[in-house]
Order: sequence, then structure tokens, then C-alpha cells
Amino acid sequence: MRRIVLQTGAAVKGKADATRVILTSYMSGDTQKTFYLETFGCQMNVHDSEKVIGTLVQQGYRQVETVEQADLILYNTCSIRDKAEQKVFHRLADFKKLQAQGKRFGVLGCVAQQEGDKVFERAPHVSLVCGSASYRNLPEMLVQIEAGKRATGLDDRQTDECFETEFTARTNPYRGYITIIEGCDKFCAYCVVPFTRGKERSRTSESVLAEARQLVDLGYSEIQLLGQNVNSYKDPAGKKSFAELLAAVGEVPGMRRVRFTTSHPRDFGRDIVEAIDATPTLCDHVHLPVQSGSNHVLDAMQRLYTREQYLERIGWMKAATREISITTDVIVGFPGETEADFEQTLNLLEEVGYDGVFTFKYSPRPNTPALELEDAISDQEKARRLEVLMSRQREIQINQNKKHIGKTSEVMVEGHNQARGQWIGRTSQNKTLNFTAPDDATPKVGTYADVTILSTFPNSLLGQMVI
Ligand code: SAH
Ligand code: SF4
Ligand code: F3S
Repeated sequence: MRRIVLQTGAAVKGKADATRVILTSYMSGDTQKTFYLETFGCQMNVHDSEKVIGTLVQQGYRQVETVEQADLILYNTCSIRDKAEQKVFHRLADFKKLQAQGKRFGVLGCVAQQEGDKVFERAPHVSLVCGSASYRNLPEMLVQIEAGKRATGLDDRQTDECFETEFTARTNPYRGYITIIEGCDKFCAYCVVPFTRGKERSRTSESVLAEARQLVDLGYSEIQLLGQNVNSYKDPAGKKSFAELLAAVGEVPGMRRVRFTTSHPRDFGRDIVEAIDATPTLCDHVHLPVQSGSNHVLDAMQRLYTREQYLERIGWMKAATREISITTDVIVGFPGETEADFEQTLNLLEEVGYDGVFTFKYSPRPNTPALELEDAISDQEKARRLEVLMSRQREIQINQNKKHIGKTSEVMVEGHNQARGQWIGRTSQNKTLNFTAPDDATPKVGTYADVTILSTFPNSLLGQMVI
């Protein structure tokens, strides 16, 4: 007899207690099919994996921790840069020999969508290739591969549905993720996402709000709304703008923190800043990727905004009542980026005063218009620019973080570092704040604490819990 208990999210032992049973499956006998899943890439992939795990468990599979224990080995892949794409083929090569034991292999996500049937040529031991827009068909595909056949699920940029499932195995015990929009219609010259994730499509605000309420009922107090361009959200029912949806999620009773990522500058309206100002549960952090500080490069990248328009949006955030922390992404070495262009990116960093910057060396990607441009900047020069940018940003962050000394911030307690005798917390601004607690106080992971900041580093703050 087999009994599978699948919970749509987390069962909570008392709301303040973050000890949760995330997903349980029971099985008598040892005939249950098992799967191993490794995830690469962005937060949307991580959350897709939570939905894929739920789908597999619902189909009678049990998740295991190692490839050796698994009947089915899955990789949820990323193709944003060449290195990310290569990772999955390395993994598949490493474990090819396990095919002799009857194990099956599957490639999911962005590389699956991008390469399609070519995956079978590059790695003939793979039997499942499925892009993210086809996950709803996974149950049928599993039946096919169990019968010894190959299964492919690819999207042709036609679908206007998001992948919603009631079976989500929430693997982050403290933060509940909700995808509100999938795909991308922007087609930046360097980017694979429009090809790997399909056309832009949003969920109704009603279904997003229902999921937010459900997560609060399950004990989550922090929620992150996700989308490749989360703020390009368009309610198919026409009821709410993105800013209105943000505010409504923030007002769900029991909600403590709402985050959202990633915002595209072109669609970033002043109403988002107004919503943050008016709704205390909305976190005071915006990730707004700029990619370059030079109009010439922004134009070649087809980013759809100028440096001046980007700075106007930064101005709105700086004028807000709340102190909004701002982070960004930068690509160095895009074809044609001159030293003068690069200088403009450096001085933009100073002008904005970012709290964090993710920097990437331009990587030519299949299908993208930038492939036509000569990738004339050497890897060595890209590495140099990356190095210069990172060290400049390190100084900026040191100064940014220093401003917090003496202030008290609320943190969500995320862990304990036994060796250091410190607790690990995250502020609303998304900064890591490590802290010590008085002897008579034991902060609980998953709850909130007030911490006074005593010293700062480029990437974290250090403080003491206030009783
Ligand atoms: N939709 C978001 C970004 C999503 S991709 C936006 O438009 O801002 C995440 C980041 O990966 C991008 O911000 C960019 O900095 C980086 N990236 C994307 N394609 C890249 C490429 N071909 N080479 C290097 N970095 C890339
Ligand atoms: Fe890629 Fe541009 Fe879409 Fe962002 S907006 S996902 S960078 S194509
Ligand atoms: Fe990578 Fe696909 Fe995300 S390419 S960054 S996993 S959308």
C-alpha cells in the first residue's frame, strides 16, 4: 500500500515556530520511483523546481539527495551565460556511466528549451528534455520515459498560460515565492531569456492574492514576487497594476515582508515607489539592473531606456520617505564598449551609490542579435574591467554600509553560526546583518528581531539584538 502526503507548501507547528514539514511522502515497500534534482540559475528556476518537485511527488516519485540513489536524474538548467550552459553537459558526462544501471536522465529549464532535441545528440543518455513553459505536461512525459521512450516538451512562444500548480514543494522554509509573470518580450540584444522562457504572460491578480493568503495561512510572513521582469506585470483581468498588486499583497493580513524581483527600468513607474512609501510591509529594496552607464552601449544592447531615464527612476527612489536600498546588474565588455563607455558605468555607480552590484562579463549567446556584432573585447580585458568595477563598488558599499552604524533594524532570523556565536539575519533592505544576542535571549530562526548595528563590512553588517 502506498500513501503519499503532499502538502501545498509548509505545515507549520505554530505560526512563530518555523519548524516545518515541507513535503512528506510515505511508502511501504521499496518499489517507489525516486528522483534527484539539481537546479542552476535564477530564483525563477529555483521556484520552478519547487513546482516540479511537487508534480513529481504527486506522480508517485520520492526525492533523494544523491544521483546514486535516484532512478531519474534531473537538471533544471540555466543558459544566461555560456559557462552556465556548459555546467549541465559536464554533469551529464560525469554521470553517464550510471545509465548502465537503468537510471534515466532529464534536462529541464532554459538549456532544454534552447537546445531542444539537440540535447539528445550532445548527451544520448538523456531521455527527457522539457522547457519551463511545458512543465504542465510533465506527468504525461514521465509516463513516456518510464515506457523507455524519449519525451520532449518545448514552447514555440505561443503559450499564454503560466505554470500554476497546487502541488508546490516549498523548499525555503521562511520565504514563499510566487511567480506573477513569466517570459520576456524585451529582446535585449545579448539575452537568451525571450527564447528560453517564451512570451510574456501574467497571472491574474486574484490568483496571486489567493496564493499570498494561502502562504500566510501556512505560516509564511515573507513573500517574494517573481518575474523575469516582475514590474512588466499586466493583470489579464485588468483589475490591478503592478504597484496596486504589490500594495494588495502587502496588505494581506499576517504579511510582514514582501519582496519583488527583477524590475526592468523601462517599466519602473513612480507608483511603485509610492506603494513602497505607503505600505510598510513592502521591503525597502529595489533591484534595478542598469547593465551599462553609457547611452551608446544601452542603445546597442536595445535596453529601451537612456542613462538619464534610468537616473530619473533612481531620483524617485531617493526622494522617497523610506530609505530604499538599490542594487543592480552590470555587463562589462559588450561588443563596442569603449574605455570611455566603461568610465561612464563607473561614474554611474558613484552617482547612484548602489548597495550591491552583480557584474558579468559579456557572454555571446545563441539566437541573440548581439551575435552579429563582433565580440572584439578580449576575455582578459573583460576580466580587467570586471575587476576595476568590483573594487570601485567595494569602496561604495563600505561607505553605504557605514551609514547604518548606530541604527536599529528589524531582521528576519535566518540561521545561527555556531562557530562565531552569531545569528544570521536579513534586513528589509536585503542586507545580511549578523548579530549576537544577550544570554537570556534565544532568537528563533524564522522570526523577527530588532538589532542595533555596531560595525559594518562591504557585504554585511554586524550588530547586537535589542530586547
Ligand atoms: N530581466 C532582467 C535581467 C534578467 S537576466 C533585466 O532585464 O534587467 C540577469 C542578468 O544576467 C542580467 O541583468 C544581465 O546583467 C546578465 N546577463 C544576461 N545575459 C547576459 C549575457 N549574454 N552575458 C553576460 N551577462 C548577461
Ligand atoms: Fe533578458 Fe532583457 Fe528580457 Fe531582461 S529584459 S530577461 S535582460 S531580454
Ligand atoms: Fe538562467 Fe533561465 Fe533564469 S537562463 S537566469 S535560468 S531565466
